[in-house]
Amino acid sequence: MAPELRVVGKPLPRVDAYGKVTGKTVYAADFTLPGMLFGKVLRGTEPHARIVRIDARRALTLPGVRAVISAADVADVRYGGALKDETVFAREKVRYVGQPVAAVAAATSEAAEAALAAIDVVYDPLPAVFDVEGALAPGAPLVHEAWETYSAIPILYREGNICNRARILAGDVERGLAEADRVFEHRFTTRMVHQGYTEPRAAVAAWDSAGQVTVWSNTQLPFEVQNTLAEILQLPPSRIRILVPGIGGGFGGKLRVGVEHFAALLARKTGRPVRVITTSEEELTAAYPRQGTIVELKTGVTRDGRLTGKQGRIFFDTGAFAGSGPGVASVATLILAGPYCIPNLHLEGYAVYTNKTNCGSFRAPSGPQANFAVESQMDIIADALGMDPLDLRLRNIVREGDEGPTGQLLTGVGLEECLRRAADAIGWNDRRPGPSRGKGIACGWWTTTGGSSGVYVKINPDGTVALNTGAAEIGTGALTGAAQVLAEQLSVELSDINLVSADTYSTPFDFGAQGSRTAFSVGNACRAAAADLRRQLFALASRQLGVEPDALELRERHVVAGGKRVSLADLSRLSQQSGGGLIAHGTFIAPPTPYDTKRVEAHVYPAFHSPSFHAHAVDLAVDPETGEVTLHRYVVAQDVGFALNPTYVEGQIEGGVAQGVGQALSEEIVYENGRVVNPNLTDYKMPTTLDLPRIESILVQHPSAVGPYGAKGVGEPPNIEPPAAVANAVAAAIGVRITSLPITAEKIVMALRKETP
Ligand code: MOS
Repeated sequence: MAPELRVVGKPLPRVDAYGKVTGKTVYAADFTLPGMLFGKVLRGTEPHARIVRIDARRALTLPGVRAVISAADVADVRYGGALKDETVFAREKVRYVGQPVAAVAAATSEAAEAALAAIDVVYDPLPAVFDVEGALAPGAPLVHEAWETYSAIPILYREGNICNRARILAGDVERGLAEADRVFEHRFTTRMVHQGYTEPRAAVAAWDSAGQVTVWSNTQLPFEVQNTLAEILQLPPSRIRILVPGIGGGFGGKLRVGVEHFAALLARKTGRPVRVITTSEEELTAAYPRQGTIVELKTGVTRDGRLTGKQGRIFFDTGAFAGSGPGVASVATLILAGPYCIPNLHLEGYAVYTNKTNCGSFRAPSGPQANFAVESQMDIIADALGMDPLDLRLRNIVREGDEGPTGQLLTGVGLEECLRRAADAIGWNDRRPGPSRGKGIACGWWTTTGGSSGVYVKINPDGTVALNTGAAEIGTGALTGAAQVLAEQLSVELSDINLVSADTYSTPFDFGAQGSRTAFSVGNACRAAAADLRRQLFALASRQLGVEPDALELRERHVVAGGKRVSLADLSRLSQQSGGGLIAHGTFIAPPTPYDTKRVEAHVYPAFHSPSFHAHAVDLAVDPETGEVTLHRYVVAQDVGFALNPTYVEGQIEGGVAQGVGQALSEEIVYENGRVVNPNLTDYKMPTTLDLPRIESILVQHPSAVGPYGAKGVGEPPNIEPPAAVANAVAAAIGVRITSLPITAEKIVMALRKETP
């Protein structure tokens, strides 16, 4: 019989709870150093223009101004992820409104602001492209005329303004569509949205006399920022220390260098510590938001509702630099397939340059956009066939042992249970419970991102345990989950675990707090370290107790054998005196997920590791006069494999739904001719607690073979299905299908008027 679990699976309070609820945690934006200067960034005012002149002479004469830097002051390097197309400052030309052109450091924030206003920049405007259609039109201006000279990972397919085209090709889609009784063609669009983290991007940088720089930053990926700064500053990574204090949310928006480089460059120039924090306007015009998309789907289906083939294309407006675009366009194709068995597929994801801000990663990158299209179309098909949308899904979903779209073997598949339980909970048998009221359902799948994690673990002389990880706690509770794994494995309490995290000098490498991977990967690294420590503890205890190591076990902070026992505290002290101390390291990298390489082209993410499955159901009402949508109930059934801490899994579900409802109903960064017209939190409308019902979570547990205790990634998935679930419920409520996000009151009213002229 499996031993009873004492710590994992329990709703224990977070290891970082006390500091956060009492306001004692220091966030990056709170962090100060003596003598610190304030840095600010001058941003371009033209969507596409040659820079004729930058004149900072007047700015430098203003009181308190210590430095102004621009492209001429930094090494001429291009950096980036899959494609290196970015520079610190615009060189020769600007490619979007908001692109950094210069930066200043001053004694006060006000003086820095005044200096920005005193820098004269003269632009010579160039023709620009403002959307995907414009960028792909014959003869369109190129956002990067020298794109072919940029370095990139070799698998990308690039052409002009296309910075990647990823494909899945399976079976024979022509045949699949020919075999269908009906073929459905639809087009969907989604808009650019911001992650909406509470704390803006912030960094403080200071150089020491040895020429090393330390940066306190609220990045999700300290090791990634270390490497990028090494390229920008032309230094070995070992001379760059990134430390992560508290982070007020990231959601993918803080993966890549944001303001750290400006702080480091200004600090080097002035010889003083420098802090840079973004404003709301900078966040909404020059951060890394979720890409707007156009999705085209052509889906074949038999009369009895079996999917025979699907052709799909999704175009990501990735902005002026590739950013996450090439990868996001790849992931999207796996979402376009849906969690369905479809024998014939031709799916393409395009990342397209435009003269807008550089879009990036946002919780489940590509997920909501592609899922909105797929799951809206499933409902349209069900209606056309006279089928219940739930039944159409149940007829086609993947089940245990099925193949994914690229041929991966699917195991631990809890999708049917998710669909049935979400439907039961929402009362699916009564889909239109009143006038202008309706219920919608949507389902999907997602990955647990790979990448390696390492931990150091030490048993302290009081018997507590130090867990040292390179991952940052970005607010999800993931490191509490990992600490629960460690506590379980060492038979100590969660409160015995003392966490040190996210410091590129003192903590081991971690691929970082991204991709729903942190508790999964760090937890597995903890298992490896605990196994090592058990061997050490048992060897010591064996001598101490005069018992063979095989007869020993860990129990409640002790090593025990029959009636004999010795505490971890005593063993730690003993080891410190005679054995060098009880320390271990553990590492983990997810094993590769096999797939059929012949089915993919230019694909950066060809299979989903330890995939999760989920179904969302919503019950809402639409006011036919005003178009206002009121959510009455929202249910999520998510196959999390195993809930390491049910409270924080539910927290992820609640937050993910809130963010998703924002994208569904109200959020949009609105561009007009290359300029954001709503760069403030009054006009960019995020939902508040008053806009949301209580989110009901159902935790479905079909374990992953790889995750700690069977856990799968949980952070991103809840953000995927809300737009589709809401769109489907709106259609059920009022009989009108909105195919573009956000589904604003205005769109609903206009659609209703068209329906009944
Ligand atoms: Mo995420 S978008 O991998 O933080």
